[in-house]
Amino acid sequence: MILKPFLRENFIPLPVGFISTINKEGIKNIAPYSCLMPVLRPLDLICIASAKRRDTMDNIKEMNEFVVNMTGIDFAHKVVPTAKHTAPEVDEYDYANIEEKQSRVIKTPGIKGSYAWMECELFKIYEEPTYNLIMGKVVNLEADDKYLKKDGSLDVEKAKPLFNVGDSNGMNFCTVNEIGLHEPFGAMFPDGKDPLSKKYE
Ligand SMILES: Cc1cc2nc3c(=O)[nH]c(=O)nc-3n(C[C@H](O)[C@H](O)[C@H](O)COP(=O)(O)O)c2cc1C
Repeated sequence: MILKPFLRENFIPLPVGFISTINKEGIKNIAPYSCLMPVLRPLDLICIASAKRRDTMDNIKEMNEFVVNMTGIDFAHKVVPTAKHTAPEVDEYDYANIEEKQSRVIKTPGIKGSYAWMECELFKIYEEPTYNLIMGKVVNLEADDKYLKKDGSLDVEKAKPLFNVGDSNGMNFCTVNEIGLHEPFGAMFPDGKDPLSKKYE
């Protein structure tokens, strides 16, 4: 089947991260963002694509910081309430009945019950006429121990990360599973050694 090019996103299962921000008055905002990716290994940058008119966008420009909250499928029912248009003066923690978690490095709080939190300082905004790419520098990365394996990696069977696959009229929420195959980074290199391995020590 040949499809319209803009439907490309329907073939890339996307994470659902909840971006929390505050404005100058301290009013708190939450919005789900799926156009979300780390920028290469081992940088500490994260990129989100944002439409121009978002309280999230305005808050990031105002405060130069934000939190990427990664949750499990138990937050699926929080997606629509936080994605609904609300006036900037509405506290979306109250509106969506979400509890806040104090951040360690930045002022903006995160979301309690997430399996991981990325506290970010604004690195750069790439402005385009119809969208912006927001680059954040992760200044504190934290994960809830109860979703980690003994080696510190994410136990996806426990965390059940919230994902979605789009279709022509909406989003199908889903999660990910391990398939029982692990390959070291070094496997990509002719000598079997990962040139970045020192960074991970
Ligand atoms: C699953 C999901 C993913 C979304 N991803 C994005 C995204 O990556 N970028 C974006 O600009 N809007 C995205 N949106 C739309 C915003 O979440 C929505 O417009 C929200 O109301 C923005 O809130 P704000 O104005 O408080 O920032 C997404 C919505 C949903 C439901």
